[in-house]
Amino acid sequence: MKRIAVVPGSFDPVTLGHLDVIERAAHIFDELHVLVVHNPGKTALLPVAQRVSLIEKSVTDAKLAGDIRVTSWSVGLLVDYCTEVGASVLVKGVRSQVDVAYETPMAIVNRNLAGVETVFMLPDPAHAHVSSSLVRQVASLGGDVGPYVPNAVAEFLQKPRG
Ligand code: PNS
Repeated sequence: MKRIAVVPGSFDPVTLGHLDVIERAAHIFDELHVLVVHNPGKTALLPVAQRVSLIEKSVTDAKLAGDIRVTSWSVGLLVDYCTEVGASVLVKGVRSQVDVAYETPMAIVNRNLAGVETVFMLPDPAHAHVSSSLVRQVASLGGDVGPYVPNAVAEFLQKPRG
């Protein structure tokens, strides 16, 4: 049986930390769905479709191995998507105890809702300080986000948008 996992997140925008987790997870699972989910608790910078396209480009540019599919989900629960595609595992990158504390209740609720397990993955410590919110802030103030995001994202954020 195929081992199918989902890496969910806001990805607003995708960072090198996310890409690292995607690469590691793609080595473990037969099929990996990178799923952009709108988080109503956050003010978005990029439209969901743009986030999907930047992840697709970043995965292609980095030549990541494995069966990696990028899409979005806007109706219902995250576990509904898992059921729809036959995924039994969610993969979440955790950089610190703060991330573990934030992710733990969601992991338990997702398991209770649909028996979907969550695997916490440690990214490369080189990316431990990188977050999308930090990238959004640096980009909005005109700083260089190049060290934190894939090239496709840096190019996109540095392009003037009206
Ligand atoms: O990158 P983020 O913002 O930390 O990702 C959070 C996300 C989108 C994965 C989280 O908000 C989520 O799981 N949303 C789906 C809604 C849902 O299913 N909620 C109930 C179980 S937690």
